[in-house]
Amino acid sequence: MLDPLLFGEIDPPQRLLMGPGPVNAHPRVLRAMSADLLGQFDPEMTGYMNQVMALYRPVFGTQNRWTMLIDGTARAAIEASLVSLIQPGETALVINFGRFGLLLQEILLRIGARFETVDAPWGEVVPAEAIRAAAKRVQPRLICTVHGDTSTTMAQPLDDIGVIAREVGALVYVDATATLGGMEIAADRWGADVITGGLQKCLGGPSGSAPITVSDAAAQAIFARRHDEKGIRAANAVDGVGPRIPSNYFDLAMIMDYWSEKRLNHHTEATTMLYGARECARVALGEGLDARFRRHQAAGAAMSAGLRAMGLTLFGDDAHRMANVTGVYIPQGVDGEAVRAMMREQFEIEIGTAFGPLIGKIWRLGAMGYNAMKHKVLITLAALEACLAAQGVALPLGAAVPAALAAWDEVMAA
Ligand SMILES: Cc1ncc(COP(=O)(O)O)c(C=O)c1O
Repeated sequence: MLDPLLFGEIDPPQRLLMGPGPVNAHPRVLRAMSADLLGQFDPEMTGYMNQVMALYRPVFGTQNRWTMLIDGTARAAIEASLVSLIQPGETALVINFGRFGLLLQEILLRIGARFETVDAPWGEVVPAEAIRAAAKRVQPRLICTVHGDTSTTMAQPLDDIGVIAREVGALVYVDATATLGGMEIAADRWGADVITGGLQKCLGGPSGSAPITVSDAAAQAIFARRHDEKGIRAANAVDGVGPRIPSNYFDLAMIMDYWSEKRLNHHTEATTMLYGARECARVALGEGLDARFRRHQAAGAAMSAGLRAMGLTLFGDDAHRMANVTGVYIPQGVDGEAVRAMMREQFEIEIGTAFGPLIGKIWRLGAMGYNAMKHKVLITLAALEACLAAQGVALPLGAAVPAALAAWDEVMAA
């Protein structure tokens, strides 16, 4: 008999994760993660680290030497970036249009940095001219923004961000957790100094490893704060002139030294996550980034068209929707949580709830990474239609799936 204290073997239900992330991981990624472990400085392992650097450069749209992984969920890379880029008392400008703009502010607050915000209401993005005016007024050391904010499903245009930052001598930080691998990320063209991501959205992996890219200008500023910890510093190590970065784990100067030929023994790289991150990038580049962006665009267009065909109203500004997450108003009189429960219990499909002012008002439906597939969008729409009908909503039965199919095909044919 099984000892009850051992519980059972992990055997989760086969849920289709169609929320704002995490999503189901690509099987190739899961297979890569079952490979045997290596020692941290084994030449095979450091070889894999170098491959990861090479693989993520095109994913970020950059030539940046410093392109690597932070061990931790996406938030770990956000925190590593901010704690390494800005000093207590320096001023940042936060482009704020949702929950994750609030997260940037929360981390800056803990660092002891000053910050000002340039805001848009939830469901909109911040116009470039408003960012320029705020940057001129605030004269920040750092401009921080989210690319796609899953809380509002909006994608902030970033074409002008680098130009604006150079006008005031600022560096730029971008949280692209939710869009990396699904919408174009153009670190070099945008002139963004540091961009971070996560695996559990468009890259189709599990959460727990966060890709990051750092420009030479940002690396120079970070290395100026280099203070290697006593137990691992080389005899000839020279400290930077700037103040010590007030986090050991998230000290990008030491992390970059670990990812360089110095191989500073900072942390033990999360081998299994690195295998997964490496495979995520191989899957993305193997598909081709343009094809992948188009697939996400088709999935988003199909989801939107299907929801509209049901008679539902989408949340937010049509012109700035993320390709991969769609917000939709919960119809009047419908218990949103009862529908989510029925989706999960009867159809094994997860859709997302919402945050802050949108709690109880919208659902968020995602189609990204391995789940940005035609059949998964169609199955989700058909299931939602059945759940709404069960709640007594009068809706044009059978309209959503053909509308979604047509929208998918239109994007793919364009
Ligand atoms: C835009 C954005 N930033 C950051 C995060 C935080 O990611 P994690 O939960 O992996 O730390 C998320 C997760 O939903 C996100 O959507």
